[in-house]
Formats: sequence, C-alpha cells, structure tokens
Amino acid sequence: MGFIDDIEPLEQAAITELNAAGDLAGLDAAKGAWIGPHGKFTALMKQMGSLSKEEKPIAGKALNAAKQKLEAALAARRETLELKAALPKEPTDWTLPGRRHVVGRLHPLTQVTDDIVRAFRKLGFVVADGPEIEDEYHCFDALNTPADHPARDLQDTFYVGKAANAQTPDARPNLLRTHTSSVQIRVMKSQPPPVRIIVPGRVYRRDNADATHNPTFHQIEGLYVDKNVTVGDLKGTVEAVFKDVLGSDVKLRFRPHYFSYTEPSLEIDFTNALVKKLGKDWLEIAGCGMVHPQVFENVGYDPEVWTGWAFGFGIERIAMLRYGITDIRLFYENDTRFLKQF
Ligand code: DAH
Repeated sequence: MGFIDDIEPLEQAAITELNAAGDLAGLDAAKGAWIGPHGKFTALMKQMGSLSKEEKPIAGKALNAAKQKLEAALAARRETLELKAALPKEPTDWTLPGRRHVVGRLHPLTQVTDDIVRAFRKLGFVVADGPEIEDEYHCFDALNTPADHPARDLQDTFYVGKAANAQTPDARPNLLRTHTSSVQIRVMKSQPPPVRIIVPGRVYRRDNADATHNPTFHQIEGLYVDKNVTVGDLKGTVEAVFKDVLGSDVKLRFRPHYFSYTEPSLEIDFTNALVKKLGKDWLEIAGCGMVHPQVFENVGYDPEVWTGWAFGFGIERIAMLRYGITDIRLFYENDTRFLKQF
C-alpha cells in the first residue's frame, strides 16, 4: 500500500511548511504549494483514481483526515499571522503627548464652588455635607422656624414620600431641603463645639423657572461656633472670601433682616465693578446672623458658653455675576456651546 504510506509524511511536511510561513503572503504561497490546484497534496488526491476497489475507501478516509488536519493548521496559522499583522510596526511610545484627545472641563458652577471653598479653607473652614432629602425637623423645627412659617408651605417646598397632610409627628413627610441650613443642625448634633464649617450643596424650591429662578439651585452655608464670636468676625470672613473670589474692589454692606435661626439677623449687599456694570449700586448676596440661642438649645450646645454666626448664599448668583451670565437656566441645560466657554 505505497499510496497510503505516502500520506502521512506529506501531511507532516505540509504542516511544517504552513507553520513556518512568516507572514500572510508566505502562508498563501505554502497553501498553494500543497492544497492549491497544482499542489503536492492535490496531486496525491488525483492519484486516487488509479487505486484498486479495496484500496480506495481506506485511502479516501486517510486522505480526508489528512486534509482536515491541513486545513485546521492553515486556519490556526492564519489567525496567528493576522494578529501579528495588526500589531504596530514600531514599538508604542506611551510617553508621547496626546494629540486629538479632547479633555473635559469643570462646569462653571463647580469652578465657582471650588474657588469659594478654597477661599474658606484658607481661613480654617472645613467642608461638611448632608442629605438633599431632608425632614422637617432638620430643615425647619430645629432651626426655630414656626409651624406656620410660609417657607413650609406646600406652594414653596417639595414634600416627598408620606402624605403632606399626615397628622401624627412620625407620619410627617420628608422634603427636598430648601436651604443648606439643615446641615448646621446635623453637624452640631454630631459633634461638640467649636465648629467651623462650610456646606456647598443643592437646594430645592417650588419656583417656576425663569431667567433668575430655578426649582433647584446651589448654596453655600457657613457656620462658626466658638467662644466670644462676633459680627465683626462674620464681616471680616465674608469680606475676605468675596475679595478672593470676585476681586479686591469688593465692598460689603449689612442690613437688618429676619431669620428665625439667627438673632440679630442681617442681609449682606455687595458691590464692585461687576455690579456697577449691571447698572446697579448694590446686589443682595447673602443672609446671615448670630446663631439664635434656641438653635443652640435644640442641638444641646450651652448658649451661655457658646456664640456663633451663620450665613447662606446662592452660588448661581455669584457665577452669573462673575461670568456676566443673564439667564440662570443656561447652567442646567448642559449645552456644550455654553459650557465650552468656561
Ligand atoms: N437659609 C437662608 C436662605 O436660604 C440663608 C441664611 C440666612 C442662612 C441666615 C444662614 C443664616 O445660615 O444665618 O435664604
């Protein structure tokens, strides 16, 4: 059976040659030399015709098995060579600078917030945080806000969860915090004085959106509690920060006001070249005051020992002023034509 004995050595030689191909062109040449129309293996198959009746089925089976092995070897080698061809010819230099990569940037509100936070940190304030979904206790009760205060009205505050008109205290609904002042309570309840914190965060009010209002916006709350803290410290602190963030030409003015959690309460107006550019003399910028003794009682601080002040202001207002933006809604639309400008 000379014919059958020829198959295996040919098969081995073919596989060796296929595996030796160094690239895809070499592989195609090897394929042609063995299983192409004039290939050596093809030639062997053609000789089948001259075999005897008994030899044919045995030889046919052996040939088919060999051919399958050749094709498998061919496919495997092709995959290896294709992978190799896809690799870069030169080694990659990972230290080269990027060329087409567009780096993202921070939202203008984030930039302004970061600047304000940085200015306060220079004075020793640390950032505190609290939940946006609050309860009436932290948002109103503990801040000495009476039950009939208009801020609690369904028209002004987003209530969530349980029914807003539920009667029993523990059935009272949660709400979306209307100001960051709620975090004052959370921080004071969680640590003894002294306290020196700022709280940047998102707040919610039931307002219709227009050029100067939006149902959600951002505030920065500040709270300083220690012994012998004065309104003078408050003025100096706020002045230093505003000069840092908006320019050394900033001037502040304090007017009497009312907040249930401070006594006395004040409102801060400020002016500088940016305000004058808007054709205004003063711009109302923040609420503040000396922490009400009742608030200290509510969190377990002794009002005979501790004094403090607090303030809160809107971040959007400052960002609008700084960048000359006249419509607050632009901050929330995430139109990249707007965002790219900062
Ligand atoms: N919570 C007030 C508001 O949203 C701002 C404010 C006023 C915060 C007086 C204070 C404060 O901490 O003492 O308008």
